[in-house]
Amino acid sequence: MRMPKIIDTDYLVIGSGLAGLYFASHASKHGKVTIVTKRSLRDGTTVLAQAGIASVLGDDDSFEAHVNDTLITGAGLCNEDVVRLTVESGPDRIKDLVDNFGVVFSGQKEGKFDLGLEGGHTKRRVVHIEDFTGEGLMARLEASVRRNTSIRIIENTMAVDLLSMSKYGGGNSCFGAFVLDRETNTIDTIIARSTIIASGGAGKVYLYTSNPDTSVGDGIALAYRAGAEIENMEFYQFHPTCLYHPNAKSFLISEALRGEGGVLRRMDGTAFMSSYHSRGELAPRDVVARAIDSELKKSGDDSALLDMTHLDGVFLEHRFPNIFKKLIEFGIDMRESPIPVVPAAHYSCGGIAVDQNGRTNIQNLFAIGEASHTGLHGACRMASNSLLEALVFAHRASDAVKECELVRPGGIIPWKSGHAVSSDEGVVVSQNWDEIRRTMWNYVGIVRSDRRLARAKARIDLIRDEIRNYYWDFLVTPELLELRNLALVADIIVHGAQRRQESRGLHYNLDHPEKSDFHKRSTVLFRGVGPCHS
Ligand code: SIN
Repeated sequence: MRMPKIIDTDYLVIGSGLAGLYFASHASKHGKVTIVTKRSLRDGTTVLAQAGIASVLGDDDSFEAHVNDTLITGAGLCNEDVVRLTVESGPDRIKDLVDNFGVVFSGQKEGKFDLGLEGGHTKRRVVHIEDFTGEGLMARLEASVRRNTSIRIIENTMAVDLLSMSKYGGGNSCFGAFVLDRETNTIDTIIARSTIIASGGAGKVYLYTSNPDTSVGDGIALAYRAGAEIENMEFYQFHPTCLYHPNAKSFLISEALRGEGGVLRRMDGTAFMSSYHSRGELAPRDVVARAIDSELKKSGDDSALLDMTHLDGVFLEHRFPNIFKKLIEFGIDMRESPIPVVPAAHYSCGGIAVDQNGRTNIQNLFAIGEASHTGLHGACRMASNSLLEALVFAHRASDAVKECELVRPGGIIPWKSGHAVSSDEGVVVSQNWDEIRRTMWNYVGIVRSDRRLARAKARIDLIRDEIRNYYWDFLVTPELLELRNLALVADIIVHGAQRRQESRGLHYNLDHPEKSDFHKRSTVLFRGVGPCHS
């Protein structure tokens, strides 16, 4: 333990994926930026993104078509103005990446690109870097922020709680955060004119996920505790095709494979998607994930198969080099045998409610990327719209923060650990962590019911009581902070799912199998109207 520090900055960014780094690059033109990230800069979700960025770039495409596809996939809950604004901003953001960050997309030549196709899209519009788009983008953005002298990067540091004027008898305004330096276990204070949450989603809430270990929903939990509005968290997206293999931890098999003609089959070799949707394998993602889930429940099989064997082997090797290589490592040659796949939690369509510039309801607090809810995705996100949203809203927020003025108290009350002593009960953390994830998978997964949700609620309540007692008794550790956040986010998802007594998009409840006009609106939760915040 060392002496705690107080750090002053203009803009504090919590998280270091595409949204955070892109915001930082643009905001650094008019202020000092500090990025805190709980592991290393690249340990987030963006790096794992395979498919790409959806944007209208093809000659046969139009803004109208992209808007319509997004609205249809979003099942009645998208904000049409936000959809239009995002779609129409796409080509400029792609141009910025190419011209100013040196990104080179596949097939790039004189403003033209090789464009991929994915579920829900009626046109080819996914600009990509082979099948490792996230890795390619992060390499360029990381290089750019690391050489920028107006950007300070603090790794291995985790936000504990936001600093709020309400604790000082002021209004609901944010002026930074307490952060935990994981190496020294010291809690520092960062004071900022505006604070930007860019910490991604919460796939780790579920037992099986395509997300990395860092996706715990920290930012959403921080914002909720500070009084922010959280919108539509019941819409958790399950990716239909993650690799099913005992040694593969969360390896995604991109939807782009189905875009190039991949066929989903039962273990006995029969194709099944055409009996679920007229667009077959390219139906919106909620439909495909539910179809696989239903097939597995009927057959008792452990996985479905994604068959690419009818496609040209040379093409597959070149179009999907990353997936091809990874599968070979697992002993699967996709040119010759079908790929075993299962659905897994993938993307949070809900998040911290923001306006068209990424502003939350708390003064000087912004949210961008997967942690936010802009209104783009509605009840189901269309593939590859998320990187687009991250770019568009990070850019808009980087402009909006110019107007923020620092609102802070004269003296800052430092973090207090009270009479806490070091915990030697790590088992409490691991036990509760596993229980939350299993409960969420079994009761709040692809198919829900009133009874399953009630069971989940009862268990999560008990776990949260135990964490609450433990949290204030012991010194905080990164594991305990993550557990506390994970449990709160799980509670928010269950709460949202219980309120939504209908089936729409990604939320499917056996007791309410139809859409209802009454529920054609957002679920907005905040302290006092959602789960207990502590
Ligand atoms: C994928 O490559 O299938 C993931 C794309 C996405 O989630 O948008």
